[in-house]
Amino acid sequence: MNNRLTPLKNIAKKDSRIILGLMSGTSLDGLDIALCNIKGNGLNTKLSLIQHTTIPYQSNFKKDIKTIFSKENVSLQKLCLLNEEIGKTHARMINSCLKKWKISNKKVDLIASHGQTIYHAPKSLHQLKTYGNGTLQIGDGDHIAYNTGIITVSDFRQKHIAAGGEGAPLAAYGDYLLFRQKDKNTILLNIGGIANCTFIPAKANFSEIICTDIGPGNSLMDAWVQKKYKGKYFDKNAMIAKKGKVNSTLLKSLKSTNFFNLAFPKTTGAELFNIDYVLNAQQKSKTNNISSEDMLATLNLFTATIICESIRKIIKKTTRCEILISGGGINNPLLMENIKNYFTTNKVTTTAEKNIHPEAKEAILFAILANELIAGDNKTFGKGEKGMPNIGMGKISFPN
Ligand SMILES: Nc1ncnc2c1ncn2[C@@H]1O[C@H](COP(=O)(O)OP(=O)(O)O)[C@@H](O)[C@H]1O
Ligand SMILES: [Mg+2]
Repeated sequence: MNNRLTPLKNIAKKDSRIILGLMSGTSLDGLDIALCNIKGNGLNTKLSLIQHTTIPYQSNFKKDIKTIFSKENVSLQKLCLLNEEIGKTHARMINSCLKKWKISNKKVDLIASHGQTIYHAPKSLHQLKTYGNGTLQIGDGDHIAYNTGIITVSDFRQKHIAAGGEGAPLAAYGDYLLFRQKDKNTILLNIGGIANCTFIPAKANFSEIICTDIGPGNSLMDAWVQKKYKGKYFDKNAMIAKKGKVNSTLLKSLKSTNFFNLAFPKTTGAELFNIDYVLNAQQKSKTNNISSEDMLATLNLFTATIICESIRKIIKKTTRCEILISGGGINNPLLMENIKNYFTTNKVTTTAEKNIHPEAKEAILFAILANELIAGDNKTFGKGEKGMPNIGMGKISFPN
């Protein structure tokens, strides 16, 4: 056998694998790194988190990415250069982390790299008859594999599109393996830049799961802060929003977009939910003059409301549904309060309750996908339902 394939085959045969999951979402806040020990595969997957951290993106790096992020017209040269630069930067971040944790790269079987989303174009966004769904994540896996010396699985979303999906959300697969419960219905809600959720009914087969994007998570609040407060990226601990009052005219205007009427599953991104979305809603509702505090109070309640109303549509009236939240949004106390105030009869908590660190969860889910690609079989995910095809996702890069 080819001497590159032998180590891969050996990794596939192991009882347990050390996999480093990476996630950098649309918030552009940093790279989430989760070092996982994953035993088994499929329904027998057992996960333990060895270490995790988020390495913040430097302000220049963020600025550079923003020159091509979620924009229809960009410099192709910049896109091309950043594909390499982001891969190399992520590799440097991994190497410094492993050094800090005193873990040799030889101990890590695989890296699972999501890459940096640059553009997400489901048909619902572009509405061009001749084209299907599209999405692009950059920070090429070859640069990560070469510069870390670790076999890297990357670019998970293309196969999902090839098999008829929108490339997102991919959470259903890992959520099912980690969080399904025999006696309870479960909602996994992730509040990153975009909010998405997975509904797993008690004793569900994979085919009974609903996994969908909801709309903005932190993104509109972040966009407002970044526009109005120089040097700030988000409303830390909702300190600004807590000083404001909700403007109900603006709230109504923010809710009136067709995306919220589309059936589940659906996906979205910063291409729709960005600062222009907020400014348009302000214009339509003639609320241009309200204070920044009131703006953030309104954006905060709007975010919570569309999250809660979407979940309500999915779980219908059941109160026997536990809601487990993850993502940076859990650190926004007003957002959490607004969500809890809506679901007074459901248990609302974070994934920490199930021993999965809420801020490492998404990176963990990609480690799980890499584990399935290398060591999984084709039985776990059944026939593959709408938006959740039964496929192995990710491409393999060798270090040399
Ligand atoms: N202390 C905090 N107070 C309010 N919001 C926070 C706090 N910490 C993180 N966040 C929010 O979480 C976001 C990052 O969430 P994350 O899950 O990493 O999103 P993404 O997956 O899009 O990168 C930040 O941009 C910010 O809006
Ligand atoms: Mg992030």
